[in-house]
Amino acid sequence: MSARINPLAAGLNADLEKAAPEVLAMLSERGKRLYFPKGILSQGAEAKAKAKRFNATIGIATEGDEPMNLPSLMSHFEGLNASEALDYAPPAGIPVLRERWREKLLAENPSLADKSFGDPIVTAAITHGLSLVGDLFIDPGDKILLPDKLWGNYRLIYEVRLEAEIATFPFYDGEGFDVAGFEAALAREAEGCEKLVVLLNFPNNPTGYMPTVAEGDAMAKALLAQAERGTKLVVVTDDAYFGLFYHLGGESMRESLFGQLIGAHPNLLAVKLDGATKELFVWGLRCGFITLGPGRAATADTVIAALEAKIKGAIRGAISNSPKFSQSLVAKALASPTIAKEREQKSETLRLRAQKVYDVANEPRYAESFEVYPFNSGYFMCLNVTGVDAEDVRVRLLNEYETGLVATSKTDLRVAFSCLEVDDIEPLFELIHRAIQELRKD
Ligand SMILES: Cc1ncc(COP(=O)(O)O)c(C=O)c1O
Repeated sequence: MSARINPLAAGLNADLEKAAPEVLAMLSERGKRLYFPKGILSQGAEAKAKAKRFNATIGIATEGDEPMNLPSLMSHFEGLNASEALDYAPPAGIPVLRERWREKLLAENPSLADKSFGDPIVTAAITHGLSLVGDLFIDPGDKILLPDKLWGNYRLIYEVRLEAEIATFPFYDGEGFDVAGFEAALAREAEGCEKLVVLLNFPNNPTGYMPTVAEGDAMAKALLAQAERGTKLVVVTDDAYFGLFYHLGGESMRESLFGQLIGAHPNLLAVKLDGATKELFVWGLRCGFITLGPGRAATADTVIAALEAKIKGAIRGAISNSPKFSQSLVAKALASPTIAKEREQKSETLRLRAQKVYDVANEPRYAESFEVYPFNSGYFMCLNVTGVDAEDVRVRLLNEYETGLVATSKTDLRVAFSCLEVDDIEPLFELIHRAIQELRKD
């Protein structure tokens, strides 16, 4: 081991060694060194419970029983008191929010009902959760398996910052997910490899695809087969767009794969990343969660406690804690009796846009310009432009038609229908078609 191990980290590692040596073997060198210090925070927590006379531990300024605050700021927070708006949150998040997100997970994923999984740990949204996964499980040179259509920020997080090696599998096979391609890539990368991180993002960015139940089952089966064969798998589900399922062209899964992966095998640790950012339409509040699903139910509590301490250490050492203001707002929203209805209404607005895109983009007259990749959910869909460079189409649309799309490769254009009004959809696809035809003639 490269650096000295703190006794607290050694204690956590010893707990893992006893409860789940496979999970200890999944940790990066940094992950092995991580621990949550018995410093200011834990002494402060003890004082909060017992120091009823004078509590001179708190690292904020107070007046009376409240955090000190400026009226020019406080006057903008309606319905939140100064503590809810301005105080620090604990590194793992405020307990009430963690409880409510857990309830939400259980309500929306019936397969979790009888599973042993951790309480969601609050992150500064999903991007931070992705970084925490890297902190715990990725050493330079480690492999991470991703689809060939992916959110570009994964490269910054894992390849650039953490020096992992990205391996990819083909996302599509015809009208659906390339289960055989996934199985083959998984087998290829797992072969002779002690540990592999697999990152699955459904509904997917950039494709807007959510697998069918049969495809989900096949993915879970393929992962289990490699765990049984002996490779230790950290399987991360990035469920950023969870719940935005429109079932275009057929029924898709309605649950996260996370539920199927918990308790499946000691060599398989499931990690769920999700967030209020997209699900509650609060992107800039930076509120997300990381939830752990160990492979062995009998020792799950010990594994969860040890990994949670390490994650808290990683949070403390990077951002200290996530904004309490955001957490208080999200916790209150989750308790609202009308939130389910409100979310359904917004989801229906997005579904109508997706349906319109589905109908328009698949019109036969566009077939000479682009192919439509299968999509059924989320915010996005992709087009495979034929005979011209996707970046050239993007630039032409921008310069000639004041229209912005994202080119995700030499052939693919991503359309975010999440930010298009229904009436804008037909004219947009007409422009894409025109730009491609014009470029062909140039
Ligand atoms: C697949 C995927 N994961 C994660 C994120 C980041 O989410 P957050 O804003 O919660 O960090 C995005 C946002 O674009 C995304 O598309």
